[in-house]
Amino acid sequence: MKKLLLLTATTTLLLAGCSRDYTPVAGASGEDIYKGACMECHEAIEGKDNIFYELDAQKKNTDFFADKISSGSLLMPKFPNITGDNLKAVSQYALDHSIDK
Ligand code: HEC
Repeated sequence: MKKLLLLTATTTLLLAGCSRDYTPVAGASGEDIYKGACMECHEAIEGKDNIFYELDAQKKNTDFFADKISSGSLLMPKFPNITGDNLKAVSQYALDHSIDK
């Protein structure tokens, strides 16, 4: 049982903390990109329609989102193919669907 748990934890880390090759189709909106790339992990906050993040004031800006998408983290994959206008559009969409912590 312990071994199984460890294996599951390791696999999750390996799968998440890397890079996704998701590439937006031409003309994709911020919403399209969000649904294609982010929604599997970032669903709406319970009890709130279409609100995905609860953020501190210093994180409530598009730069924070763009940075997170481009750099990822230990647990979140980075998205090297979301760039330029697509990166702006999905960052704005995510910000528009965030509330204050
Ligand atoms: C495989 C799952 C996964 C996907 C896909 C994913 N994320 Fe994440 N994301 C995470 C995890 C896990 C965290 C929490 C750890 C961290 O902050 O790095 C996180 C954290 C974040 C945070 C920080 C929230 C906070 O409260 O500080 C933002 C912003 C974010 N993700 C945006 C996005 C956006 C936008 C996308 C789509 C382009 C995306 N994520 C796709 C797993 C994912």
